[in-house]
Amino acid sequence: MKTIIPTLKTGSSHHLRRPSVKRRLHLDLVDGVAVITFDRPDKSVNVIDSEFLEELETALRAIGHYEVRGVLFLSSKPSVFLAGADLEAFGKFGGESLAKLVERGQLLFSRIASLGVPTIAAIHGACLGGGLELALACDRRLASDDPATKLGLPETQLGLLPAWGGSTRLPRLIGLPKALDLILSGRQVASRPAHKIGLVDEVVPKERLRDRALALLGRSMPKRRRFFLTNNPLSAALTRTLTKRRLIKKTRGNYPAPMAALEVAGRGTWNPGSSLEPSFRRERKAFVHLAETAAAKNLLRLFFLQEKAKHGRHDRSIDLGNLLPVKRTAVIGAGVMGAGIAQAFASRGFPVILTDLDPERVAAGVKSAEKLFDEAIKRRIFSAHEAARKLDLIAPTAERVSLRHCDLVIEAAVEDLEVKKRIFADLGSRTSPHTILATNTSALSVSAIAVADGVTHPERVVGLHFFNPVSRMKLVEIVTTDFTSSEVVERALAFVRSLGKTPVVVKDSPGFLVNRVLMPYLIEAGRLAESGLPVTFIDEAMLDFGMPMGPLRLLDEIGLDVAVHVAETMVAAFGERFAPPLLLADLVRAGHLGKKSGRGFYRHEGSRAFPETFATPPRVLPQKAEIADGLDDLMVEESKCCLAEGLVRDADAINLSLILGAGYSPFRGGPLGGETF
Ligand code: NAI
Repeated sequence: MKTIIPTLKTGSSHHLRRPSVKRRLHLDLVDGVAVITFDRPDKSVNVIDSEFLEELETALRAIGHYEVRGVLFLSSKPSVFLAGADLEAFGKFGGESLAKLVERGQLLFSRIASLGVPTIAAIHGACLGGGLELALACDRRLASDDPATKLGLPETQLGLLPAWGGSTRLPRLIGLPKALDLILSGRQVASRPAHKIGLVDEVVPKERLRDRALALLGRSMPKRRRFFLTNNPLSAALTRTLTKRRLIKKTRGNYPAPMAALEVAGRGTWNPGSSLEPSFRRERKAFVHLAETAAAKNLLRLFFLQEKAKHGRHDRSIDLGNLLPVKRTAVIGAGVMGAGIAQAFASRGFPVILTDLDPERVAAGVKSAEKLFDEAIKRRIFSAHEAARKLDLIAPTAERVSLRHCDLVIEAAVEDLEVKKRIFADLGSRTSPHTILATNTSALSVSAIAVADGVTHPERVVGLHFFNPVSRMKLVEIVTTDFTSSEVVERALAFVRSLGKTPVVVKDSPGFLVNRVLMPYLIEAGRLAESGLPVTFIDEAMLDFGMPMGPLRLLDEIGLDVAVHVAETMVAAFGERFAPPLLLADLVRAGHLGKKSGRGFYRHEGSRAFPETFATPPRVLPQKAEIADGLDDLMVEESKCCLAEGLVRDADAINLSLILGAGYSPFRGGPLGGETF
């Protein structure tokens, strides 16, 4: 790469290279400071790809020709500093070439660390993965106080570990325990908590970020803490042992990445003055090894599927520019789901009317929404002020108000077809011709609602199946009938995405997709319990398989009466494979409905659950893996049926839905996909 280097004049400002369409960054000299600005012109985000690395190498080489008094890293994007490695580009690397790529990044960032002049990363927007590793190589990190600013190392979530120096530098900067917390969870932190743990040195308003950074370059760099107590070999070994125990319990050995990250970060802490190279070598070796694991490949695929789901179209002939966006909304029914849905709408800035049969139930719904906002404040998603403003977007009423100005009305009343039919018949005269009429039913026929007496606009009726708890579950099934118009589906897709959720379009059919695939699995688990296999044995087998909750515990959560009801609907539609075992019917008859009644497959006491016994267990128990494989086969077979029936567009829609909607072991890639183990 040729670089035209002008002579440096103090007090002057120069572009060292004319920005062109393909540039990922540009280098300016401002009053003796080299300012490197990340600004990829063809994308809304800055990511690290081969071109980026090359340009950064060139920029650093150019800086070497001057006597600069400091180097400043900035981004000109509105909400991204540097979002990490370009996974699409680097996903193709393997073996030797991957090892070289990792080493190249390490060398480059080490060069930043050893420039011999003060370096500052002035962070506004997402600073993730490789982006944070670059910032960690700087002497100081300033962060804007903007909500867009988030810092994190999400690599372990993708089955990998931070290997551009992050696993080595972070424990030295903030101490091993805090570093492990960030690396092993992959969580992102806002600027203030990042400041609190020592990850950033100062939080400043976005507008002052650059000036403050330039001013600080003239001052001496802060003296770093040494963490003698937590980072010495003895403490680090103890931390590794204890954390390993916790990890094994949590991941059941299914996720090799956090284990590897623990080893590398835990061993690289000591001797702060010495060469970092041994630790970098461990980073490289672990990264290349992890990249070859089935878990990493599946998790990476899952990441791409989620990205794809952000943009997919239902009907390409529709001109999106002509579609009315959803702005104003209403929720009918303020129970568990209605309150959760209203809170989700308000969280994203949508005004929402929340209504129910009487003022008391509406008030209870608002209270639930308020509780959800309180949780969001605790989890630092919103400040108290933001949460209060968003809660104000919920307009509670028990009156039969006009909904003409609403772009979308969703019904979340009781699961009773007649009630829902009446609500939809009434909505015709209360809404405008463009209002989307959605139902959150979990098992009733959306088509039956669309063609009910008095429903005048079946093309506007669609299912929007949110999962419980709404605030945490990412998936929304968009259920279409033969009448639903493509415009309504496209508008629903855009709206669900604007809620930060992942939509999947499913044809109307009993149980839709996720509950349909889960049902034979849950029923068989009940049958195994009926045959005498211990309840905890069955649940443990599936926890080992990687499910977030055992099937019998899940049945207790759903409610055994609800499960029997859904199973019966499925039997009518698909036959005996959905027939519930007698044990389930017996439990329901005895009033043992699961958690809500205190007894089901477990006896529930507060947050604790004790397994019930239903028959004499066999003298020799089978292998847990055998049980898990058998139960998994049922999900796989039902998934194949759904695909063959054309319920969804492709197998990946099933993989993504089951992972996001049912917690199907993400590292396995979904019931119809993924690398085998
Ligand atoms: P819920 O029993 O907590 O709430 C239902 C609310 O609807 C009650 O407050 C009731 O007063 C109100 N309601 C009844 N008739 C009404 C009417 N005519 N107009 C206005 N409000 C009326 O029930 P939940 O759990 O919130 O379920 C609501 C819907 O969401 C159901 O269709 C259910 O199948 C579905 N669903 C439930 C999930 C869950 O896990 N609870 C998950 C996904 C969907």
